[in-house]
Amino acid sequence: MEKLGLLSSVMKPVSSARGLPNGHYIDPALFLEEKRSVLFANWSGIGFGKDVPDIGDAWPVDFLGMPLLMVRARDGAINVFQNTCRHRGMILVDRPSKIRGAIRCPYHSWCYGLDGELRTTPHVGGPGQNSHEAIRTEELGLFRIRSHVWRDVVFVNIDGTAPAFQEVHADLIERWKEFDQPLHHGGAGSSLQLDVAGNWKLAVENYCESYHLPWVHPGLNSYSRLEDHYNVAEAGKYSGQGSYVYEQLKDEQGRALPDFANLSDKWDTGAEYLAVYPNVLLGVQRDHAFAMVLEPVSCERTIEHLELYYAEPSSSSPELDDLRLSNAQRWKTVFEEDIFVVEGMQKGRHGQFFDGGRFSPVMDGPTHAFHHWVASQIEKGRAT
Ligand code: FES
Ligand SMILES: [Fe+2]
Repeated sequence: MEKLGLLSSVMKPVSSARGLPNGHYIDPALFLEEKRSVLFANWSGIGFGKDVPDIGDAWPVDFLGMPLLMVRARDGAINVFQNTCRHRGMILVDRPSKIRGAIRCPYHSWCYGLDGELRTTPHVGGPGQNSHEAIRTEELGLFRIRSHVWRDVVFVNIDGTAPAFQEVHADLIERWKEFDQPLHHGGAGSSLQLDVAGNWKLAVENYCESYHLPWVHPGLNSYSRLEDHYNVAEAGKYSGQGSYVYEQLKDEQGRALPDFANLSDKWDTGAEYLAVYPNVLLGVQRDHAFAMVLEPVSCERTIEHLELYYAEPSSSSPELDDLRLSNAQRWKTVFEEDIFVVEGMQKGRHGQFFDGGRFSPVMDGPTHAFHHWVASQIEKGRAT
């Protein structure tokens, strides 16, 4: 455990604060602590609604070693369960599947409904006896995990202690209420996974600031410069950046992708890129949106899952598929350009004299806001 007082220097005002100590990026013991106090105690992203589009679709997720199962239920809602059979603890679903009828355990065939209720227990009372008084099926449903879907991201609060999602993120939901309309995933070319040799927090920290644009994203910077951006830092809530100069992609015929409905003028050239603490990165623009879930595989490895969404399904404008692909390519380039700095910061944190570093009081406010929030969650966890 780190020396006392190091987190208090993270929580100072931005002009004098230091960043989180190295251990928070390289020490497996602190990774486990953050798993509990940052990722399991808050609303973390684990996946996307678009992966379970139809009733009976089931999608297993390993979230920090915890086996979870997202299931589209009969009422259209997404349920998240612990993916473990209540009999002898077998993993229930080990690959994306279409459940027909019930979730059947492959070991002794106990069957659960899409609502998680235990329905049948074949031969549990002996051959031909499908019940036994000791096995009370009404008490043996799957463990349900608190979940909430927003902007197609499936969020979970594993430990069940966080206030309701709508309460935690009320300000952000209000800020982006104009974008609260149907999102249509762009199809096969609109998904991207990047495997990054870095702690998940570094991806958030880098996403939050536009300071690095001129050097890391020279292409982007040619039309969206440093001075075209503004910081967003809502203490204890969310942070990121906005742009005043978003330009829609156009194809050779001058066609653009359709806009989301009824947006105010601000979004003609405005765009915002915000980190929804702890591990979800969202972006909104007039004609598309994206969501990235950071999967913390281990202390020093993260998989970034990016999905792109549009105002209309691609089936209603197949002639714009090329534009969707170019748009995906544009984001792929940007996120790939960011890999070497995330991985480089990870390597840098093995330098034992690094002291958490400093923040530009002008440029790094959103990144510091994230550090401050993480430190506050760790302290909260240590106090309980
Ligand atoms: S472990 Fe699932 S039915 Fe036995
Ligand atoms: Fe970047």
